[in-house]
Amino acid sequence: SHGADTLKEASPFPMGVGIRDRVFELPGDWPLLTAHYEYVTPENDMKPVAVQPQPGQWRFETADRFVDFALSKKLKVVGHCLVWAKDDRTPPWFATDGDKPASREVLLARMKTHIDTVVGRYRGKIAMWDVVNEALDDGSAYLRDSSWSRACGEEFIAKAFVYAHAADPDALLIYNDYNNELDGKFEKMVRLIESLHAQQVPMHAIGLQGHYELDMVPFEALERTLAAMQRMGMKVVVSELDIDVIPRGRWWANNGAERATLSKYDPYKDGCPPEILQRQAEQYARLFQLFRKYSDTILRISFWNLHDGQSWLNDFPWKRANHPLLFDREKKPKPAYHAVMRELKP
Ligand code: G3I
Repeated sequence: SHGADTLKEASPFPMGVGIRDRVFELPGDWPLLTAHYEYVTPENDMKPVAVQPQPGQWRFETADRFVDFALSKKLKVVGHCLVWAKDDRTPPWFATDGDKPASREVLLARMKTHIDTVVGRYRGKIAMWDVVNEALDDGSAYLRDSSWSRACGEEFIAKAFVYAHAADPDALLIYNDYNNELDGKFEKMVRLIESLHAQQVPMHAIGLQGHYELDMVPFEALERTLAAMQRMGMKVVVSELDIDVIPRGRWWANNGAERATLSKYDPYKDGCPPEILQRQAEQYARLFQLFRKYSDTILRISFWNLHDGQSWLNDFPWKRANHPLLFDREKKPKPAYHAVMRELKP
């Protein structure tokens, strides 16, 4: 041990975190934040729906305060995100033109205005941008079906990176997705990387979101993916890491009746059973053991939220207390924290 006492002191790769609340108004969160993390991502405040809810109606107040706060605390900012290639996450006005779907030209022009305005505003202040989020299909298609893919095919992805690079040539530009380490989606991601690189598109890193579920962490697929990225010379960020302790795969697979039963049966309502916390710790340890092997390829590892009380998983897929992170609701380190620290400084 070299005596490191916090994640960022111990870690061979920069550590980051997605921030839920108006952290600039919550001094109680600052010690944990600045002790452990080097990068912060606003969880929602820079999304297209947040900053441009209507055409030309810009809402930058929260994002501005977030960036100013982060820089004043010597934290680096990850911008999230410029294009979220899902119709239910794109502001509705973006994709329509009167009563018709927006054409390729209209969509690309709106995208350019959006990216020029947002990236330009924070030029020099944002270290990395999630440029395109979740464009690959989960099923048999290459791209997710959306207004974007229907109007532009793959071109909107390439153009988003070109526009972002022009607006801030120093920002590191990321393609971010979930399950992109798994069979099927992995091959699509490789196809996308090769295509963008053949066109000399400035896409600098792949984001593996890393929303995992207890007992279902895809260690082998992840290792295969990290090895492949290393071979291709492609950098990786783990962008939204957490381990859900209430696996929802089973929930998705079942009907509404079971959902109703499960939401009443809430075994962890007042805390998480110690044996679950222990399993979670072991699985986090295995993840970091793997990440350490690829520290030349991984540019950053960010958790999705600061502590269990702020996790998005408390709201999803139904309201109930979850325990996915390294710190509990009192902001105290959990067994998972100690396990990760043991891996980071063996
Ligand atoms: O702010 C409003 C509040 O005023 C309102 O009362 C409340 C009622 O539902 O909604 C609040 O907004 C919610 C917001 O989270 C803040 O809590 C939105 O409805 C809700 O849709 C939004 O969910 C976010 C989700 O992305 C959709 O944008 C989650 O917090 C956020 O964690 C999640 O993050 C995504 C990443 O961007 C991409 N990768 C997956 C990840 C998890 O789904």
